[in-house]
Amino acid sequence: MKRNRWLSSGALLPILLFLFSACANSPPQDSLSPAGPIARKEDALFRLTFWIAVFVFVLVEGLIIVILYRFRHRPNSPVPVQVHGSKRLEIGWTIAPAVLLGVIAIPTLVTIFAVSARPAGANVLDVRVEGHQFWWHVDYPGLGITTANEVHIPAGVPVFITLESVDVIHSFWVPRLAGTQDLRPGTTTTLNIQADQPGVYLGQCKEYCGLSHANMRFRVVAQTQADFDAWVARQRTPAAPPPQEVLAIMQRSDISCGGCHTLKRVEGLAGQVGPDLTHFGGRATFGGAMFKNDPEKLRIWLHDAPAMKPGVDMPSFVGKLSDQDLDALIAYLESLK
Ligand code: CUA
Repeated sequence: MKRNRWLSSGALLPILLFLFSACANSPPQDSLSPAGPIARKEDALFRLTFWIAVFVFVLVEGLIIVILYRFRHRPNSPVPVQVHGSKRLEIGWTIAPAVLLGVIAIPTLVTIFAVSARPAGANVLDVRVEGHQFWWHVDYPGLGITTANEVHIPAGVPVFITLESVDVIHSFWVPRLAGTQDLRPGTTTTLNIQADQPGVYLGQCKEYCGLSHANMRFRVVAQTQADFDAWVARQRTPAAPPPQEVLAIMQRSDISCGGCHTLKRVEGLAGQVGPDLTHFGGRATFGGAMFKNDPEKLRIWLHDAPAMKPGVDMPSFVGKLSDQDLDALIAYLESLK
């Protein structure tokens, strides 16, 4: 008896933990608190399906309970009437689910096409996102801007995103702004997002894509139109050229920053493998939006990136960059606002 009690409380604990882990006060990646019209459209679809499912569950389980009780075995009860099939019932329970599925399917199809079609109207911002193991290349075709992991958008404006991948399948997901859309190599997919209010909306790769899948995060930074315009203007300026001693480090054959990274309009730095660094210092995060962009974190990263993020293409520079080299590189990179 005692042992049983221990067993049942042992089973209860994980269940309670599981339940409580679902409770959070305004979590940043909550698809149930939509923050824009696209997310609201998808949320409405979810709620419709949810309540239909609740209705079916209560009806079916309720009938089971009623039938179990009403037709339970009693002493001396006679053998019940033996029934073999009922045309009326069978037609009924074929048509009813078909109607319910139709009620779900029609708005679902309409929404699927609506969220990936280019919105009507002239006031649409075009953004192109390219998935890489394990970070996001972001550019703005109409504006000539390239950045990484942080998608700036003006609040209240429809944003049309074109998604591509250079390696494996990734999935772009900003839970509060829209549902997921895959990025597939060799093809192009599209997705609309829109934020009601300025704010930072966290995103996450949602398709398992390798060792650092969980470290492939990003942010959507929604701004007022004025702030966004100011950001655009800043992004369009060329990179501040590196001081001579920094350029010398970047060009060393055992470092070779330009093999992977671009600094716009700096000669010899036009690599396409890693993130564009032209305005690196202006970003709040780096490394797939995993790390706060500050000198301490950047020092660890430049020293030994694979130790911070498994599977990253950025090589380890242990034994190659001296403390003075690191100081100079960090000061320059953080100055690129
Ligand atoms: Cu990219 Cu998971």
